[in-house]
Amino acid sequence: MKPNLADAFDFSGKHVFVAGGSSGINLAIGEAFARLGARVALASRSPERVEAAAAGLRDLGAEAAGFSADVRDPEAIRAALGGAAERFGPIDVLISGAAGNFLAPATGMSANGFRTVVDIDLNGTFNVLRGAHEFLRKPGAAILNISAPQSINPTAFQAHVCAAKAGVDMVTRVGALEWGGAGVRVNSVVPGPIDGTEGMDRLAPTEASRKAVTDSVPLGRFGTPQEIADCCLWLSSPMAAYVSGAIIPVDGGWSLGGASSLGKGF
Ligand code: HXC
Ligand code: NAP
Repeated sequence: MKPNLADAFDFSGKHVFVAGGSSGINLAIGEAFARLGARVALASRSPERVEAAAAGLRDLGAEAAGFSADVRDPEAIRAALGGAAERFGPIDVLISGAAGNFLAPATGMSANGFRTVVDIDLNGTFNVLRGAHEFLRKPGAAILNISAPQSINPTAFQAHVCAAKAGVDMVTRVGALEWGGAGVRVNSVVPGPIDGTEGMDRLAPTEASRKAVTDSVPLGRFGTPQEIADCCLWLSSPMAAYVSGAIIPVDGGWSLGGASSLGKGF
């Protein structure tokens, strides 16, 4: 039977929880769902930032709430997930996108620097999924882990992020295996270089480095937060009902380039 396209993208009343949702790509994802009727819970460390972001979604007419929690703290993130479920019901769409990044050669990276990024990106993703499990709609929930091209392509000055995001993609695959029986799908969305974001400002802070990035993207340009959100909408919709355990680049073909010199010379 042909799905009705309008219904497929109607998220009215659905609960979307975004970990790391107070800015950038993740907030754009939350906003895209909010515009399609979802009730959106945002979580991040800073109470001020996350509350301001939630207020922005409420200004659009959506039901939205902010929760302050560090994904490195399993109890704190579980409490946020539980609080959101109490307010908005079982979680229909779970986005795990909290992340940290800085450019540093391995020799300039302390053990704590490496551990910090792995703790936020990888352990944080596990904490979010593990903490959410009891609150997910079963069957029916869709989980999207926000990964990065560094999960696939070894990238100079990004040992911490490469290791962490490769682990995130493996959590995606194992999650899809273990939770498929409960009707829960788990996928990774892999943004390419997205303009106007904290991540890109950190990794390509100069005009020369920005040009080096776009020169290495087959489509020849940066992506937009909306283009990542669009993929998340599709993956969370009935149009993607048979997609699970997938690692999906939304990167203009950037990851085709293999080992990346992103950090070289910056
Ligand atoms: C070397 C650094 C460093 C740098 C921090 N550290 N910045 N080392 N070069 N530029 C080291 C510190 O010296 C310290 O080690 C350790 O990292 C922890 O630093 P803290 O500041 O104490 O950590 P914390 O307050 O927890 O902050 C985490 C953070 C921070 C990751 C360092 O930058 C942050 O909160 N970032 C969140 C926002 C963010 O990064 N967004 C971009 C995501 S984009 P020592 O040994 O001194 O104790 C992304 C992918 C983009 O993820 C992909 C693009 C293609
Ligand atoms: P961003 O604006 O810095 O977003 C990161 C979010 O995570 C913020 O809301 C931040 O809020 C939150 N956060 C950070 N550490 C946290 C922690 N320990 N616990 C809870 N929340 C935490 O970054 P972005 O550039 O838009 O990136 C968003 C996602 O896309 C990340 O997963 C990133 O790896 C991925 N990505 C980005 C790009 C890009 O071009 N930007 C490319 C590939 C992949 P608080 O500071 O309030 O905690």
